[in-house]
Amino acid sequence: MSLIDRRTFVSAGVAATATAAFALANRGKTAAPNSSPSETINVGIVGQGVRGSHLLPNFHQPEKGVVVRAICDANQEALDRQSTAFSQRYHSSVDSCRDMRELFDRKDIDAVVIAAPNHWHTLATLWAVDAGKDVYCEKPASHNLWEGQELLAGIDTDKRIVQHGVQLRSAPAIREGVQKLKEGAIGDVYMGRAVIFRRRESMGPKKVVAPPPFLDWNLYRGPSNVEEYVDGILKDQNWHHFWTYGGGEIMNQGVHEIDLALWGLGLEGPPSDVVASGGNFLWKDAKETPEVLNANCKFPEQNKLIDVAARTWCSNFEDDVFTGNIFYGSEGIMLVSGYVRYKIIMGEGKDRKPGRWIDSGDPQQAHVDNFISAVRSRKTSDLNAPISTSRAACALGHLCNIAYRTGEKVAFDPTTNKITSPSSGEQYFKREYREGFTLPKV
Ligand SMILES: NC(=O)c1ccc[n+]([C@@H]2O[C@H](COP(=O)([O-])OP(=O)(O)OC[C@H]3O[C@@H](n4cnc5c(N)ncnc54)[C@H](O)[C@@H]3O)[C@@H](O)[C@H]2O)c1
Repeated sequence: MSLIDRRTFVSAGVAATATAAFALANRGKTAAPNSSPSETINVGIVGQGVRGSHLLPNFHQPEKGVVVRAICDANQEALDRQSTAFSQRYHSSVDSCRDMRELFDRKDIDAVVIAAPNHWHTLATLWAVDAGKDVYCEKPASHNLWEGQELLAGIDTDKRIVQHGVQLRSAPAIREGVQKLKEGAIGDVYMGRAVIFRRRESMGPKKVVAPPPFLDWNLYRGPSNVEEYVDGILKDQNWHHFWTYGGGEIMNQGVHEIDLALWGLGLEGPPSDVVASGGNFLWKDAKETPEVLNANCKFPEQNKLIDVAARTWCSNFEDDVFTGNIFYGSEGIMLVSGYVRYKIIMGEGKDRKPGRWIDSGDPQQAHVDNFISAVRSRKTSDLNAPISTSRAACALGHLCNIAYRTGEKVAFDPTTNKITSPSSGEQYFKREYREGFTLPKV
């Protein structure tokens, strides 16, 4: 059954079991064998907003044998804008569609990019993998703790290549910095601070209005069971401020910094002990998620701590870091600024010896190239950010949000993926999924 047939079947309201059966029967098996190094890799991009537009030229590299064949967006205006930009820039056309399942159903597409809002990432990735595609999935790969677990269970990484869109993992300078941490350049590293300062605007008071005519609201909502359309969510990525689609700054910019904190500290799983506090202090606007979020995440077994600071609007730099990390060791600290550079500062007080920045520039193209080279080699081990790394990074962010929302310390068992307390945290473990948009059963 094709994915298109499957969609019609779903809307007839009888497909839940059949969909799951299809998924089980086909997971990773429908793939046309991916190309040999000399063959062209055909790519489809889902989501033509800010991110999709940035990634398109990174992927459309005919001289390297990588071609964007199709683009998809639930927003017809975004689709038209991107199609026009594509033909003006490349003097050729690109196919377009509103429903990503049409793109996944195409036999000529080898790999897809998921750059839709966060609430779509896990479902879209699993649909794509089931259709035999390799996937570059934007961060965060999951929208809740349950999705993080289902996502990994649903991907056979021997068959499918799935990269998490945390590009700093492909920055030579950051890779070198992490290696230095491992080698003891600042002594025993016991704490990482994720610095997440981004200047976001007020979005004004909440106004529920009809979705604009150019938007396929059914497709945009996807798994979300919230029907109301809030004015302004399409502008400036404001959807990030609503629990339905995003998870606030910590699940936006913060995923990069949290991922690096875990990587730098050599931690592979989520924390077991999380406290958080924050709120909305600047504006009385429509945002649901906090403008300010401070959290502490403990790893008692490894005796390490991750400190998370997310702020908005006016803020200071912390030792030249606005978004980035500060690692604390027994003999010094390491600063990481953005996705591009690191610096070591040895000693304390008057012994403080600042090093110099080591900078390797924007790693975005390198991250895409790394994905493409793994698509050719068919080896997940070639990826700089295999999807397995998304679990801990996303789970840590989700747990901080749960600690904030419950107002209580959250105890989590990373081996069973269960919130052990408070019981009020369980409501945030998983969302309710709309019929036709449930995750394929593993
Ligand atoms: N790695 C990075 O540095 C980086 C940077 C920016 C954004 N991102 C991630 O990229 C994703 C997109 O962010 P953005 O800033 O582009 O947001 P955006 O709102 O600008 O764009 C999202 C696009 O997805 C479209 N969309 C929604 N539902 C869809 C569906 N069912 N099918 C197809 N398209 C759909 C929207 O209409 C919109 O055009 C987010 O998850 C974000 O976290 C990553």
